[in-house]
Amino acid sequence: MKNLIAGNWKMNGDIAALAEIMSVDERLTDAICSRCDIVVCPPATLLWAACATAASGRMAIGAQDCHAQTAGAFTGDLAAPMLAEAGAEYIIVGHSERRDQHGETDAAVAAKARAAIEAGTVPIICVGESRDVREHGDAIAVVSEQTLASLPDNPEDAAIVIAYEPIWAIGTGLVPDNRDISQMHDALRALLVDKLGDKGANVRILYGGSMKPDNAAEILAIENVNGGLIGGASLKADSFFAIIEAALEQG
Ligand code: PGA
Repeated sequence: MKNLIAGNWKMNGDIAALAEIMSVDERLTDAICSRCDIVVCPPATLLWAACATAASGRMAIGAQDCHAQTAGAFTGDLAAPMLAEAGAEYIIVGHSERRDQHGETDAAVAAKARAAIEAGTVPIICVGESRDVREHGDAIAVVSEQTLASLPDNPEDAAIVIAYEPIWAIGTGLVPDNRDISQMHDALRALLVDKLGDKGANVRILYGGSMKPDNAAEILAIENVNGGLIGGASLKADSFFAIIEAALEQG
């Protein structure tokens, strides 16, 4: 399966930061992109400009969240069709920062994922356990349940991506050991195959949480890890491109 390397800029980045996208774009070749898909998700204010900056067409631009409705009285929110019109090809939904800070439930995440699909984009559906859950040995059960409840209706009819992001690993420099990552990704693969049949075998399952140039190769080598969702290390072209190179080593 082709890896997907996805950058999540979160609430970082201004016009000057587009230089980082330009720098990544300039390093991409057809040979690289035949083996690895690349997307950067800047703040929504930069979507148009980021698409214009990624002029080669080799990398995709994505959004970080969407509303479940297509239009209406939702001050400050952005509908998936608006994001698609602005150039987003992927939309991250259910990031733990949205779940924690904005009270997003699994059902809300599932509705957003459906909205992203209807708008012609690919939802990157984030799931992951807290440190407490991990320490109690419940991570696989909790994340499996969360994943099932966060899948859109009729998930078999569209492309989706799952991102496993242990909450305690995000932005902390902490990473689960390879065995734990492997067990979680295997469990998610089994769940997807069970739910979606053959299609579940082809859903990409990304790992996210303190992925950096120095640990990317070993994480991406784990079976059923089909790419990464990268926060901090996606902000600079050099570190983001180093992770893309690590993904190519796997191909
Ligand atoms: P991080 O963030 O790479 O900075 O840990 C990952 C994410 O939140 O998607």
